Amino acid sequence: MSDSVSDSKLLITGASGTVGGAILAVMRRRGVPVRALVRNAATLPGHPLVDIVEGDYDDPRSLDAATAGMEAVFVLTTPGSPAPRHDRALVRAARSAGVTRLVKLSATSAGARGPDGRIVGSWHRAAEDAVTASGLSWTILRAPSFASNFLRWADLIDRGLPIPNMTGSGRQGVIDPRDVAAVAAACLLTGVGAGRTITLTGPEPLSVPDQVACLARVLGREITTVDVPPDRARARMRSAGMDAPAVEAVVAGAAWAREGGNARVTEEVRSILGRPAGTFERWARDHRAAFQRGGG
Ligand SMILES: NC(=O)c1ccc[n+]([C@@H]2O[C@H](COP(=O)([O-])OP(=O)(O)OC[C@H]3O[C@@H](n4cnc5c(N)ncnc54)[C@H](OP(=O)(O)O)[C@@H]3O)[C@@H](O)[C@H]2O)c1
Repeated sequence: MSDSVSDSKLLITGASGTVGGAILAVMRRRGVPVRALVRNAATLPGHPLVDIVEGDYDDPRSLDAATAGMEAVFVLTTPGSPAPRHDRALVRAARSAGVTRLVKLSATSAGARGPDGRIVGSWHRAAEDAVTASGLSWTILRAPSFASNFLRWADLIDRGLPIPNMTGSGRQGVIDPRDVAAVAAACLLTGVGAGRTITLTGPEPLSVPDQVACLARVLGREITTVDVPPDRARARMRSAGMDAPAVEAVVAGAAWAREGGNARVTEEVRSILGRPAGTFERWARDHRAAFQRGGG
C-alpha cells in the first residue's frame, strides 16, 4: 500500500458509522490511505489519508464512481431499512470496477433459524449470498450485539430512566465494535479470512442486565432496565419510521437472543489479531465520558 490518498485502494462504505469509522481510525494509525463513502461529505472530518466520496446505495452510478480503481471494499449492509438490492448494487459495481476482495459486516442472526424455520437475520443472509456469489475473494464477518449499542441509552441513563430491554436475561457474545473494525482491517489489508464466514464475539456472553450492572459499576451510579414486550417494541419502531420488514427482523432477532440463541462465544478475534477480544467493561471505561453529560 502507498501512503498517498490518491493511491488508496480500499473503499470503506458506512464510513460515518460505528464500524466504518473505527476502520478509518485503524487505517489512519497504520498510515494507510483509504476512500470513504458517505452520503454527505460534510458529516466526515477531513484527513490527509482519507479520500471522502459521496455516494448512496440507492444511486448505482455513485457506487460505480466510488469503486473505480479500488482493490478491496468493506461492505456495510445499511441498517434501518436494509434492502438486498443495496448490497447487490455494490457488489455489481465492485465487480465491474475490477475490485478483487470484499469484506462484509454481517450479523450472527444471519446464521440462525427461528422457531418457524426461517432465517432470523434474513436481510444479512441475502447480502451474504450476494457477496459469496460475486466471484470475488470474500470474507463474511458475523458479529453479535455491539457494546456501543448502549450509547443509544446515554440520555436515559443521564436522566435516571430505565433502559429498555428486549432480550430479557438472554446472553449474547457482546463485542467491542473496535474489534470488529480491527479484524475487518486485517482482512482488507492481508486477505486473512478469505473464503470464510467468521463469527466474531467478545470474550463472555452477557445479558442486558449483566451489561447494565457493569456500566453502573464503571459510572458509579444506579441504572435500571425495563422489559419491553415484542408488541410494544414493534409499535415504538413503527412510530419511529422503521419499515415493517425491518421491524419484524429486529423483533425476531430479539426473540432469538432472549431464548439464548446468541449466547455463543468464539476465539476468532484472538486467532486473527493475536490478542484477546476486549471486554464490555473496558469498552464502558473507554466511553465513560459519553454517559456523563449532566447528572453523572
Ligand atoms: N449494532 C449491532 O449490535 C450490530 C451487530 C451486528 C451487526 N450489525 C450490523 O452492522 C451494520 C451497521 O453498522 P454500523 O453500526 O457500523 O453502522 P451505523 O453506525 O448504524 O451507521 C450506518 C451507516 O450506514 C450508512 N448508510 C445508511 N444508509 C445508506 C445509504 N443508503 N447509502 C450509503 N450509506 C448508507 C450511513 O452513512 P450516512 O453517513 O450516509 O448516513 C452510516 O455510515 C448493520 O448492517 C447492522 O445490522 C449491527
